[in-house]
Amino acid sequence: MVGEHTKLPTYTHVPAQPKSRRLSRGLRVVLAITFSLVAFQYVRLYSEVTRPSRESTQVPLRAAEWLDKCQLLDVKPGPPEDFNTRTQSDRFVPGTRPTLIANATIWTGRIDGLEVLQGDILLDGGLIKRVGVVDGDLLDQYAHLIRVDAQGQWVSPGIIDLHSHLGVDSVPELRGGDDTNSFKGPVLPWLRALDGLNTRDDAYKLSIAGGLTTALVLPGSANAIGGQAILIKLRPTADRAPTGKLLENPYERNDSVYDPHAYFRYRHMKYACGENPDRVYSNTRMDTAWAFRKAYEHARKIKEAQDNFCAKATRGDWAGLGDYPEDLQWEALVDVLRGRVKVHTHCYETVDLDDLVRISNEFQFPIAAFHHAHETYLVPDVLKCAYGHPPAVALFATQARYKREAYRGSEFAPRILAEHGLQVVMKSDHPVLNSRYLVYEAQQAHYYGLPHNLALAAVTTTPAKVLGQDHRIGYVKEGYDADLVLWDSHPLALGATPQQVWIDGIAQLASPHLLSKPASFQKVPQTPDFDKEAKETLKYDGLPPLEPVRSKSNTVVFTNVSSVFLREEYTVREAFAADSSNALAAGVAVVRDGQLMCVESGISACAQSIHGDEDAEFVDLEGGSIAPGLVSTGAPLGLQEIDQEASTQDGYVFDALTEGVPEIVGGSGALIRAADGLQFATRDALLAYRAGVTSGIVAPQTRGFLAGLNTAFSTGARHKLEKGALVQEIGGVHVAIHPVGSPSVSTQIAALRHLLLSETNGDIKQWFGKIKQGEVPLAVEANSADIIASVLTLKAEVESKLHTSLKLTIIGGSEAHLLAQELGAANVGVILNPARPFPNDWEERRIIAGPPLTEKNAVLTLAENGVTVGLGIKEVWDARNARFDLAWAALESNGALSKADALALASVNLEKLLGVKADSVRGDLVVTRGGDLLEFSKVVAIISPRRRVVDLL
Ligand SMILES: *[C@@H]1O[C@H](CO)[C@@H](O)[C@H](O)[C@H]1NC(C)=O
Ligand SMILES: *[C@@H]1O[C@H](CO)[C@@H](O)[C@H](O)[C@H]1NC(C)=O
Ligand SMILES: *[C@@H]1O[C@H](CO)[C@@H](O)[C@H](O)[C@H]1NC(C)=O
Repeated sequence: MVGEHTKLPTYTHVPAQPKSRRLSRGLRVVLAITFSLVAFQYVRLYSEVTRPSRESTQVPLRAAEWLDKCQLLDVKPGPPEDFNTRTQSDRFVPGTRPTLIANATIWTGRIDGLEVLQGDILLDGGLIKRVGVVDGDLLDQYAHLIRVDAQGQWVSPGIIDLHSHLGVDSVPELRGGDDTNSFKGPVLPWLRALDGLNTRDDAYKLSIAGGLTTALVLPGSANAIGGQAILIKLRPTADRAPTGKLLENPYERNDSVYDPHAYFRYRHMKYACGENPDRVYSNTRMDTAWAFRKAYEHARKIKEAQDNFCAKATRGDWAGLGDYPEDLQWEALVDVLRGRVKVHTHCYETVDLDDLVRISNEFQFPIAAFHHAHETYLVPDVLKCAYGHPPAVALFATQARYKREAYRGSEFAPRILAEHGLQVVMKSDHPVLNSRYLVYEAQQAHYYGLPHNLALAAVTTTPAKVLGQDHRIGYVKEGYDADLVLWDSHPLALGATPQQVWIDGIAQLASPHLLSKPASFQKVPQTPDFDKEAKETLKYDGLPPLEPVRSKSNTVVFTNVSSVFLREEYTVREAFAADSSNALAAGVAVVRDGQLMCVESGISACAQSIHGDEDAEFVDLEGGSIAPGLVSTGAPLGLQEIDQEASTQDGYVFDALTEGVPEIVGGSGALIRAADGLQFATRDALLAYRAGVTSGIVAPQTRGFLAGLNTAFSTGARHKLEKGALVQEIGGVHVAIHPVGSPSVSTQIAALRHLLLSETNGDIKQWFGKIKQGEVPLAVEANSADIIASVLTLKAEVESKLHTSLKLTIIGGSEAHLLAQELGAANVGVILNPARPFPNDWEERRIIAGPPLTEKNAVLTLAENGVTVGLGIKEVWDARNARFDLAWAALESNGALSKADALALASVNLEKLLGVKADSVRGDLVVTRGGDLLEFSKVVAIISPRRRVVDLL
């Protein structure tokens, strides 16, 4: 996302290692042991010599043990110097056959001019044995070689997630498997994620299928100091146990004790500041900062006592020394002060970053990384003041604004931080984001301006460095762990999907389903110029104005148009495609008063029609495109500004099923209208508008069963009374059916049956009357195939009793693919939400994962059975990414879905499924530069016939 960095920057803020630390690890251990033995002999001798004297000091029985500890206090973690001469990995699984990946385009992660190599990779012993040309003589030495022909496609190092809760925040989420946060106090450095790791989580397999090989599994962020994180490899292990997953286990294998004597390995600690610990403990920021300082003061005293003890003990000055000072509860925090623990701090806002940087200097410990860190790009100098070295920054690409401390989050943060020479990491916070798609975060970071090498490094080499593991993971280099991904495109191309994933040299995908990607996807993707936007973001302290600027002229002419897609009733068709072999054939599109008048190739009647129109505005699209405005649904877009701030949103309706609706609202006949609660010009709506999502369909928010009446609105309008702001006041009725314990699912179905078949009153009577006549759709939010089947049965029951035909739409639909035929036969549409399924809850555990795990994805499975499919979003920040979801669905269909079909998934199909009238004439159009809406192009204008304007972005 920044200037022209073709090489990884070197980071200049890492202090040089003191000389003593340059001793090889092995030598240090030997020295330590020798020294302690010598010291022990010395004290024994000394005590023997002085035995006759009554005043002689008693040498404690445990002297040798303590002197040993003293010697190890200053040893820094890290690999022995000869680490990469190892011939076999400690994680090698005996019996694993050697593998040759032939003819690959390799992104190595190196910065010495060998970033990209064309050649072969030989894997054996769990290691990368050779990169480049592997000659036949060498291969002859390997019996039972598995040969993989990469056919010139990209291989990258395995993807590394610096921030995950995989295996502790279980998927599917069950009460019995929630080991994310302890709520026993704000400071808990003695807790360890290892003690809660579930090795049978559904997500391992899914994340591996996205190329993820290694993850740092952290405790949650409820506490200022939440406990020790663990670094794991994702593959299943023979012991099936948490211990086997550990990469460089810092603990004794059969024991719980951290043993620096045996393992010079980094530990990791989770910190959090700001809203989460404040909320959980009813703290203010001041309280949380003091919790840190109090804990550190305690650890500092133990450390000092140890240092004093050791100074005397090594002189043999045992008099009155007592026992070696230590405390199992605090040893990990003491080790942070000794620089032997990587500190990972969940920290967003400037004030929190500043607090932690001051604390790091007060107690003299480095911070490995700030995570989430949404305001870091605004205060790079604060980071540069941290003790030791500036922390790396681990970010989401576009997830922001969900709480106040995330409000200034920016898609330009990665590029801005990189411009300041800071280390940028993209992370998932799994299951907050599905870590299967971590590389998608890197793709978006690149789209918004992070240079491609840094974007790839952000999910490979940079996290490896931050973790202190760049001696064995994060690179395709000889001697490194054999963790690799063979992709079906350049890994930064949208929708990049692994063809195979190796962990410790073991292929992880048993029978991968391959996709064939366009040739253009094999190159580093071209991305738009967002320099102006990035500058504005800094100028406005993270909140640049997002309101669109109206074209001053009534006539806008778009030149060099390569394609035009238009809506016709409830379909989308490609209405114009320039002959790509003829530069003169590029299209010209003329727009007058917000109406697309004509689009034709070259010098045509259309182009002629602008003669004489002197103030016509010309916009060069550089091979761009025009497409129908997209629609967003599924999240409360238009009803909220900040998810976790009640005062910024419409809020939740009373739940008619559990708490009853007050008489003043209309009692049991009340049906709430989303249109009454609309908020215009929220940042997420305006960002969505700027990304081609020109309208939203939103239902009232419910935590229960009956939501109410949806509404369709323009995301680009300033207020509700503006012309065209309300697209359609009411479209359909929304209910939600989920297993929540009480009321039961069967009770919720009974309520729906009652509303459809029994006497009701008020607005419910009116609108359910329309549903029964098939005039408006009933949208049922449901994920479980069992619930969907019950709803289908109810539909048939109502239709046969009332001799009618209901319009029914399922929203969510994670398991709908199991009923694809039945849904098609019943003419029931499905809005998949999220667009790519994830088994977050039990009710959605039976997803169809899509390539490479299954041949077909959910969209295709449903569409092939005649189901009208729409794509929804779960959270409002994600509305802007609809275009990428559509492109991805088309890519996963292996050609079965055309671009026009894909565009329909989040436009006309959603309108059809949610009761918004087809409007071919007045529907918005999105204009993109440098590619179409489904590519890494830039949205430069919105044509709005409804509002009779062209907005230039
Ligand atoms: C490598 O793959 C590319 C693309 O399939 C092909 O053109 C080339 O001939 C292959 N090279 C070798 C040495 O097999
Ligand atoms: C674990 O402890 C048991 C009993 O002390 C011992 O037999 C076994 O070898 C140990 N395993 C490892 C891997 O250290
Ligand atoms: C249209 O834009 C493409 C991409 O920038 C460019 O290669 C082509 O030359 C342009 N054609 C015309 C006629 O300007």
